[in-house]
Amino acid sequence: MERNIKEIVSQMTLEEKAGMCSGKDFWHLKSVERLGVPEVMVSDGPHGLRKQAESADHLGINESIKAVCFPAACATACSFDRELLEEMGSALGTECQAENVSVLLGPAVNIKRSPLCGRNFEYFSEDPYLAGQMAKAHIQGVQKEGVGTSIKHFAANNQEYHRMSASSEVDERTLREIYLAAFETPIREAKPKTVMCSYNRINGVFASEDPWLLDEVLRKEWGYEGYVMSDWGAVNDRVPGLEAGLELEMPASGGDTDRQIVEAVKNGTLKEEVLDRAVERILNIIFDYTDHKKDAVFDMEKDHALAEKVEAESMVLLKNDGVLPLKKGVRAAFIGAFAKTPRYQGGGSSHINSFRITGALEAAKDMAEITYAQGYGLKEDVIDEALVAEAVEAAKAAEVAVIFAGLPDAFESEGYDRSHMKMPECQNYLIRQVCSVQPNVVVVLHNGSPVEMPWADGVSGILEAYLGGQGVGTAEARILFGEANPCGKLAETVPYKLSDNPSYLNFPGDGDIVEYKEGIFVGYRYYDKKEMPVRYPFGYGLSYTTFTYSNLKLDKTAMKDTDTLTVSVDVTNSGSREGKEIVQLYVADKTGAANRPVRELKNFVKVSLAPGETKTVQMELDKRSFAWYNVKLHDWYAASGTYEIQIGKSSRDIVLCASVELTTEVEVPMDIHKNTTMGQLLSSPKTAPVLQEALGGMMKTFGAGEGEAAAEAISPEMIKGMLESMPLRGMRSFTGMSSEELDQLIERLRAV
Ligand code: BGC
Repeated sequence: MERNIKEIVSQMTLEEKAGMCSGKDFWHLKSVERLGVPEVMVSDGPHGLRKQAESADHLGINESIKAVCFPAACATACSFDRELLEEMGSALGTECQAENVSVLLGPAVNIKRSPLCGRNFEYFSEDPYLAGQMAKAHIQGVQKEGVGTSIKHFAANNQEYHRMSASSEVDERTLREIYLAAFETPIREAKPKTVMCSYNRINGVFASEDPWLLDEVLRKEWGYEGYVMSDWGAVNDRVPGLEAGLELEMPASGGDTDRQIVEAVKNGTLKEEVLDRAVERILNIIFDYTDHKKDAVFDMEKDHALAEKVEAESMVLLKNDGVLPLKKGVRAAFIGAFAKTPRYQGGGSSHINSFRITGALEAAKDMAEITYAQGYGLKEDVIDEALVAEAVEAAKAAEVAVIFAGLPDAFESEGYDRSHMKMPECQNYLIRQVCSVQPNVVVVLHNGSPVEMPWADGVSGILEAYLGGQGVGTAEARILFGEANPCGKLAETVPYKLSDNPSYLNFPGDGDIVEYKEGIFVGYRYYDKKEMPVRYPFGYGLSYTTFTYSNLKLDKTAMKDTDTLTVSVDVTNSGSREGKEIVQLYVADKTGAANRPVRELKNFVKVSLAPGETKTVQMELDKRSFAWYNVKLHDWYAASGTYEIQIGKSSRDIVLCASVELTTEVEVPMDIHKNTTMGQLLSSPKTAPVLQEALGGMMKTFGAGEGEAAAEAISPEMIKGMLESMPLRGMRSFTGMSSEELDQLIERLRAV
């Protein structure tokens, strides 16, 4: 509908405008009836609708309407399936339309820096490309139904410890390449209607009042046009926040901060245009929603079936000695409380009041001859010998034991971090005991973040279900009994132990400071660089069929950084079952221009193949796929040189590779002064000849070429090595160059 938003804003009183910048209550924005501005509602998010009616809270304490809980992001990311995420988003968008919710608060794309972050279950990945792609698809799905999203928590919010006050101390390259990158693609390409800023500070400045983050990067660089809302209670200082680019404070401020805004405009400390612009941005999104309002039905049965499907496409088969799939009709012992009452979602603001929950015991009841034993309690981590004995008996009497294990609710939640990576000891003990009487043991895991698996070598199969949503049991039964073929791959590395993790020494920091000292080496970027053994690598996952790769082709072997490279590869289902493979494309920088990870994921495709079938998949790469963030240029930069295009089944299993030569015309500016190293100057084709000429005398001083003894004492390679780190002023000490001559040389070098 045509309407003049600026005109509406101009008719508002100062008080009405200030009022628009904070919530009416926990979940609503304010209306201005006389001007036709309606009251709209926002709700959590991200993987289900948590619409609260009466007593409201943001911690998942009070009840919300009955709804459908889809698998959490820890699971859905493992699908590597953009279409699936869009389909799930669209179902959520339709639910919102039916329930009059204008913005669904999510997706949450923060990077999994440590396995300990209490909220990892809600986040997608340790890899920004994957997280960004999943978030983009989720947003597109929700928003195509005319409902907004709120990508969160912007930014560098990677722990729960002191989440409302801690400062994430991160260098700019790391921020850009890892922590902001997960937001950048979805924000640029899927244009979420709102962005939710995080609670924490970044390098000392609260995200809710950071002009660099909210204005420079988000609006000026990424071209963002929606509005920014605060996380619930994230506002520290309202007026500087508004100036920095935080349009909406949530939840209500009791009128307090509205008054501060009015006062600031009146006393001239805040320009009224800033307030007007904020209100305009908020109104744009409110009316965008009302203009796209449609009649919709929240079809719970349909969405429950979709939740089951999403989980079946997301689970990751980690180990299979041939025990899976189970034969229909087998005598199976289902052991563990999670078989009956699965853990399928995390605690906190994303907690859904599920209208139905299906456990594997119920879902598989007609597929096999099943006995059940609880095995462990969930209230406390205490070994119950009677429960264990019962489980051991059931396992003995069966042909196979399936243990449903994982983390109980209290082990991970929004609001606090885990203190270790272990499963409850009562469950580890149970697994060991069952293994001692039954050779065929499968462990099905329910957890929001990796766990140590000291029993992994002793079991025959491991299926990672993550927090699989309310239909998890059906999805598990279908995979276990082969009605579905596992096709998820890990969106994060599973290290052997917590202390292997790169953030280990600096997580969660001291007091209010957390230093991201591992820099860009997060997740597999670290483990691969360190050549460290891991339990299961990033991108890993098994299938009941096998895939082979051939015919890797690049559409060019030399390219400019402004070109697009098209990569194609043939994938064949070489097994006997239909299945889906996730083809991963990694780029490895071989130029040596910067310290970079061994390889980084830059594209992927999920492809479905019948037995014996071959398909050619195509993926594109552009400058950004090769580039790193150069802080001198304040821009992305891909140096000229060789890059390897690697096709992998995981970050540790590269099956094909090919090289491309890239050239760039971008020059990284060199600061030339007396402490610039000769190595830097010799590596530039422009300055190298000038310096080489001047170096003649220095070579002599080092004795190069002056007789056999000298040649033995110092070789040309050694000289080259020494010069690498020698500053220009070394010319003064070792060649007898005067200070004036040195200044002249610097001038000549600067002039080229
Ligand atoms: C969470 C957000 C959530 C909000 C509203 C906060 O505590 O961090 O993710 O959307 O509450 O419930």
